Formats: sequence, C-alpha cells, structure tokens
Amino acid sequence: MLNSKVQDAINEQINAELYSAYLYLSMAQYFEAEGLPGFANWFKVQFQEEQAHATIFMNYVNQRGGRVLLKAIEAVPTTWESSMAVFEATLVHEQKVTALINSLYTLAMNEEDYATRDRLNWFVSEQVEEEDNCRELIDKLRLIGDNGMGIYMLNTELAARTYAAPSPLAAE
Ligand code: FEO
Repeated sequence: MLNSKVQDAINEQINAELYSAYLYLSMAQYFEAEGLPGFANWFKVQFQEEQAHATIFMNYVNQRGGRVLLKAIEAVPTTWESSMAVFEATLVHEQKVTALINSLYTLAMNEEDYATRDRLNWFVSEQVEEEDNCRELIDKLRLIGDNGMGIYMLNTELAARTYAAPSPLAAE
C-alpha cells in the first residue's frame, strides 16, 4: 500500500508528465505550421514518450493498490521565436522534470518506500538521456545557424525518429 504523501506526489508527477506530453504536442504543431515536418515528428515521438511516462506511474500506483487522481492540465505555450527557442525551452522543461523526479526520490527515501525508489531509478536514468538528446540538438542547430541546407538535412534526420515503448512498459 502506498502512503498518502507518496501517492499525492506521484499523482502530481503524473500531471507533470501529461503536461509535458501536451507541451510537446504543441511544439509539434508549431513545427507543422513552420513547414518542418521532421522537427514535428521528433516532438510527436516526445508526446508519445511522455504519455508512456505517465502510464508507467499510473500502472505503478494501481499495482500498489493506490488511487490515480487525474487533475487539470495547465495550458501550454503555442508559439516560439525560432526552432532554437523551442529546443532551449525543451531543455529548460526537462531540467525542471529532473528536479521533480529528484524530489520524488528524496521523498521515497524519507518515507522508507523502497519500491517507489526502485521504480524511480528508471526515471533518473531516463532524465539523463532526455537532457542529453536535447543538448545534442541545440548544438546541431547552433552549428547550422541559418544555413538552409543544414535545416533541410536536420529535418530529414528528425523525420526518421520512431517511438519505441520504454522498457518498463515493454516488459508489461
Ligand atoms: Fe517524462 Fe521528458 O520526462
């Protein structure tokens, strides 16, 4: 059984993951409108991944006999100044999510909830990857600058990204 403090915090995290999904869907729509479908595809995969993160937490709460309570999802931004601004906002957002996961981890340790701590280990590694992917794209965009051929090639590269269910879901 989950204690109520941990359950409340996981419910908050589910909301944060669904907000992330909504944010990335909004970014995908921005890139669709900008005529960059490959960039849009990259964010549509992010949208799917964030829904998967929320699902992992929801499954976990249910497995522990807890109660998932879905709350309102805050409105997301709909426009950005440039492609670079979108990826910079993504990195800042992922850094916030990392801080939330770390706080949840600290709570699980303080509450001596070892099962939750164990579940969170996957998210700790996932956040390292999320931030790294984002930094890599920011570096590429910086190199490209306003070179049209570079943007065209990056758009093609990002169009190839496909969604794969994260391991905690693939295993279920
Ligand atoms: Fe669910 Fe992008 O962290």
